[in-house]
Amino acid sequence: MSNPSLGTALITGASSGIGEVYADRLAKRGYDLILVARNVDRLSALATRLTTETGRKIETISAELGNAADRNKVEARLRDDAAITLFVNNAGIYAGGPLAEANLDDIETMLDVNVTALTRLASAASANFVKQGRGTLVNVASVLALLDTPQTASYGATKAYVLSFTHSLDLELSPLGIQVQAVLPGYTRTPMIGNGAGIPPELVMEVDDLVDAALAGLDRKELVTIPSQHNEGDYARLIEARTSLLTGLVGNRPAPRYAA
Ligand SMILES: NC(=O)c1ccc[n+]([C@@H]2O[C@H](COP(=O)([O-])OP(=O)(O)OC[C@H]3O[C@@H](n4cnc5c(N)ncnc54)[C@H](OP(=O)(O)O)[C@@H]3O)[C@@H](O)[C@H]2O)c1
Repeated sequence: MSNPSLGTALITGASSGIGEVYADRLAKRGYDLILVARNVDRLSALATRLTTETGRKIETISAELGNAADRNKVEARLRDDAAITLFVNNAGIYAGGPLAEANLDDIETMLDVNVTALTRLASAASANFVKQGRGTLVNVASVLALLDTPQTASYGATKAYVLSFTHSLDLELSPLGIQVQAVLPGYTRTPMIGNGAGIPPELVMEVDDLVDAALAGLDRKELVTIPSQHNEGDYARLIEARTSLLTGLVGNRPAPRYAA
């Protein structure tokens, strides 16, 4: 017998990798699902398997999130479907290489998916959750949000955006009863990184472990979950140091070292 429903979880990028494992785990926890990606065949196969295994109601939406018309369909669903209680904002793409040699169309597509779509979909879900007075928003970032990344400056910056966005959004939404989480994977064995080929195995987390840890972090009500970080206090210390800058960040007089 299946678990009682916890409402519906909408997951972007559910056809592969991290999103596919979220779909598996959330169906098994008792969520009905709406699975979003471009590859309809993979989404349908996953939906069929999970319906058989869990008895949950699973729907698929084929959408290219870099395309406004497709994205609007997903946005409308997130905004209007009162059954949605959890949104996993996971779809993302990688475009790397030295910026001076970059294919700018690829970079722009990455910005469209990793930043514009992520923001618009988070906004639509937030509107729904605020109306309901409940809901959970998970944004998938990356540990590259915290690192300087030559050869992959734009990708790292999209993920820094996701982290900063999530921190600020939490200030808006948590007082309204809405839970927000940023997940920061390191190397995770998925197609995005060629399933880890050429990367030392001790640096690559299995995707099942990554998602299970991310969900454990969600259960612990963490705002930021870094599955590979063993020293729990490290991130808190970074935020503490950042907060200590506050008194010097605004004021009506330039610092003496900038005197004309
Ligand atoms: N793997 C890692 O090492 C790693 C590390 C840090 C962060 N991340 C982040 O984790 C998230 C998931 O990545 P992953 O590793 O699971 O990669 P993945 O296996 O390549 O999966 C990416 C998912 O996003 C979907 N997607 C990509 N472009 C899309 C578009 N334009 N419109 C709609 N859906 C699109 C893909 O589906 P379709 O192709 O069917 O559309 C796929 O389901 C991403 O945000 C990524 O940046 C991954």
